[in-house]
Amino acid sequence: MTADAHFAPGKVILLGEHGAVYGEPAIAAAISLGVTARTSPATRATFVPPATLKGAQGQALKTAVNRAFELTGRPAVRLELESTLPLSMGLGSSGALSVAVSRALLASTPSRSRLAKVDALALEMERTFHGTPSGLDHMTSNRGGIQYFVNRRPRALSPRRPFDIVVALVGERPSTKLTVQQLRARVQRWPTRYRRQLKEIGLLVKEGAQALSHGDLEALGDIMNVDHGILAGMGLSGSKTDDMVHQLRALGALGAKLTGAGGNGGAVIGLFTDASRAAKALTARHVHNFVSHFEREP
Ligand code: MEV
Repeated sequence: MTADAHFAPGKVILLGEHGAVYGEPAIAAAISLGVTARTSPATRATFVPPATLKGAQGQALKTAVNRAFELTGRPAVRLELESTLPLSMGLGSSGALSVAVSRALLASTPSRSRLAKVDALALEMERTFHGTPSGLDHMTSNRGGIQYFVNRRPRALSPRRPFDIVVALVGERPSTKLTVQQLRARVQRWPTRYRRQLKEIGLLVKEGAQALSHGDLEALGDIMNVDHGILAGMGLSGSKTDDMVHQLRALGALGAKLTGAGGNGGAVIGLFTDASRAAKALTARHVHNFVSHFEREP
């Protein structure tokens, strides 16, 4: 029996998480880790969930896949998933999974309309995970590279100078859905103050996009630091994430910040021209980390 494999990458948000939920711009980049969906012929639509996924996470996965089956007319395939991405760490695992499954179920769609169809189906799946996703996770996964979102529309951004991002994992965090809901409650209670911060995040993203395309990595790092300060001020960081931000800066990062929804856990990123020394130092401290390299698109 032949199986078709469809890979979709996870992502890091370089700048603009949470602002994106309120329509502000954001910059996200696809990483090398991701999710592979495999399909093989079967008598009816069958999902075989990974044995390691149990409880609420396993249930959320079944709900999302079932939604995708429904929206594609329950094709006669057996669907299996494999992931190299750490789950629920702010690295876009649900977005990658949604894109991988959508690509697998829409494999026979003509290539000219596939990107849009995969976007639409993956968004429906993301809604079952997150409620009100900005869409940047699945759109970055579906396109790869570095994506600059303005008015929720992605456009490829090519960095003038190559750079490394260290991703350091600092333990469990609350779900994206919960963190987004809690922030929304504060935005509704104190709209003037919180909307001002979200607008400022949007301005930082625009400055960051310029810095990236001009190759000014020092400015980009500074913008990341300021962005982290605002996220922390809005209650989205904590001692574990702040401590890792400081460790990365002490290891020579041009800038460091939480990435994804935050909430005192998950992933923290550091910007480097060459991250090999910092990555080794983190590993020696028993910090789970990996490096993603980014350079100008050919
Ligand atoms: C998701 O990775 C980051 C948030 O901005 C939520 C979203 O964009 O949907 C917090």
